[in-house]
Amino acid sequence: EIAKAKGIIHVCDSTFATPYLCRPLDHGVDLTIQSLTKYYDGLNIGLGGALVSRNKELYERTKLVQNMHGNIMTPMTAFGILQSMKTMGLRIRQQSSSAMAIATFLESHPRCSRVMYPGLASHPQKELADRQHRDGLHGGMMFFDVDGDPVKLMDNIRRPWTLCENLGASESIITACAVMTHANMLKEDREAIGITDGFIRISVGIEDPADLIRSLDEALNSL
Ligand SMILES: Cc1ncc(COP(=O)(O)O)c(C=O)c1O
Repeated sequence: EIAKAKGIIHVCDSTFATPYLCRPLDHGVDLTIQSLTKYYDGLNIGLGGALVSRNKELYERTKLVQNMHGNIMTPMTAFGILQSMKTMGLRIRQQSSSAMAIATFLESHPRCSRVMYPGLASHPQKELADRQHRDGLHGGMMFFDVDGDPVKLMDNIRRPWTLCENLGASESIITACAVMTHANMLKEDREAIGITDGFIRISVGIEDPADLIRSLDEALNSL
């Protein structure tokens, strides 16, 4: 409403939710960005992105920029992502259900604080998430603050967790953002957007949730 009143194009990056859980255009957004590298491609075999526009005019304008930059996906990458996309709905259902179990576990663990997952009753926008996400599913992404050395947590976490900076894959991924994805930010800038030294990002994959919780529990208890 604010963007419309001021004539501003409203863009939503819906990478975490994916169109399986939420369709921003249905909620009045003008352009949706999707990183195809995540969730669409569950196999870590391609890099790509999609821009979905509300109307032909926005489509033509973005298409012109794409044409000028020569930004076109190779056929083999497109083929790989199209193959992986066939299982996207199944993956997201499993990832959402495992993520809910993991978030509930983390919230009860003494080494974790500020567990942020839209499926938790404690999430400040739980009611909004329930309205906008499909079937009470809330995806595979969450974060928490670890009470202890985040680097030691990374050292001690075992399979099935993978330690890297990607997200949205079939594998579960754990990331200590202050020393990984956001290491190049000044500490005060990073903290201003809520990424504390102990901020741990989790992307839940399709493995057995009991294995994931056991491994997390062992690593947290070792701190
Ligand atoms: C929310 C979100 N949108 C977009 C991107 C960009 O994705 P890509 O690596 O496909 O350019 C990322 C990358 O981490 C992301 O987390």
